[in-house]
Amino acid sequence: MTKITKVHARQVLDSRGNPTVEVDITTEKGFGRAIVPSGASTGAHEAVELRDGDNTKYLGKGVLNAVKNINEIIAPKVIGLDSNEQEKIDRLMIDLDGTENKSTLGANAILAVSIASARATANENNIMLYRHLNPKANLIPMPMMNVINGGAHADSGLEIQEFMIMPASAETFSEALRMGAEVFHHLKAILKESKHSVSVGDEGGFAPKLQSNEEALEYLIKAITRAKYRPWDDIKIALDVAANEFYSDGKYHIKIDGKKEQLHSGDLTSYYDMLIRKYPIVSIEDPMAEDDWNGFKKLMEKTEGSIQIVGDDLFVTNTKRIRQGITDEVANAVLIKLNQIGTITETLEAIKLAHSVDWNCIISHRSGETEDTTIADFAVATNAGQIKTGSLSRTDRIAKYNQLLRIEEQLGKNAIFAGEGK
Ligand code: PGA
Ligand code: ZN
Repeated sequence: MTKITKVHARQVLDSRGNPTVEVDITTEKGFGRAIVPSGASTGAHEAVELRDGDNTKYLGKGVLNAVKNINEIIAPKVIGLDSNEQEKIDRLMIDLDGTENKSTLGANAILAVSIASARATANENNIMLYRHLNPKANLIPMPMMNVINGGAHADSGLEIQEFMIMPASAETFSEALRMGAEVFHHLKAILKESKHSVSVGDEGGFAPKLQSNEEALEYLIKAITRAKYRPWDDIKIALDVAANEFYSDGKYHIKIDGKKEQLHSGDLTSYYDMLIRKYPIVSIEDPMAEDDWNGFKKLMEKTEGSIQIVGDDLFVTNTKRIRQGITDEVANAVLIKLNQIGTITETLEAIKLAHSVDWNCIISHRSGETEDTTIADFAVATNAGQIKTGSLSRTDRIAKYNQLLRIEEQLGKNAIFAGEGK
């Protein structure tokens, strides 16, 4: 029994300079701290991130009400509970909130407490978080590294939000990280040679003003090759299109061959089909808008399981939407973001549901991140096999990779890396 003795929340800043919630939980013998992340291309069906809306402070983005909800409403209820009773704590907060989308207390308030209590228990038992969440965990995830940023995360003008590399042939996580970093540095050199900007977007990837999405893919191939790796065999590509961001009036507004097009989902499917044939693309996230279930289904039918189709804004880590997606066969993988749903318990339920039908899960950061490394441990603990946590620059992204290095080291020869190189 490890009783919670103190809960204290405060407002801190995230990697974009926006306020977010941090909470400290003290137990009889332990201490846990968590900071929640925040998205930019957020799905309409996500749990509510409570913001103050006071335009005189932080442009309305303060989270003092969420902080107050923790200190004044949640804290008195969880003090005295066993921090190890994750589900009980999470359900209590869900009930206290009383809404479907956590709009009373805020998913940012609830998630911070959920994670901090897990951390306090791990700390009390003197073990790393992944071990506390799953003592048998030993699968280190394949990283999807976002080296070119577009969409809402940069002013590059690229419609596709994330161009990611996956070092498939790596035998260990540390080797995958090294391969990714090498490609990142070669990409920087190549962009510089072509007189492009090498400043970075929100997730630490480059944000050059290129003519088209295809040009970005060409740069990736050049960088992979110059780093002496083979596209397809050694390094594969994953995209997060975040198609919501360029969808309006029932059409997708995207530049193709330098021309602004307005496409229906069928034409967009053909465009993806062309890209998949031409480039080593093995995964596409949110290829269609968040409620375009038919569009997703078309792409699933066209690709026939040859690539991973990932629902992020489509599913928002919500079992109701995932269940619908399974019935309708609109994807074969789920992007998992703890703050889309708001508790560890519900996130684990979403993963369990996806895994029950052999769908893949990718544990993901948000574009607004912090020094909190929970998702690294969480990815290992859930046997997810894939993690999406940004580029090879900026500490808010690298902190998660560094945590995976520590986990890999601690697991030693028991570590299994989710690559193809074994
Ligand atoms: P977001 O982007 O955190 O800005 O929502 C990440 C993603 O779309 O996967
Ligand atoms: Zn996404």
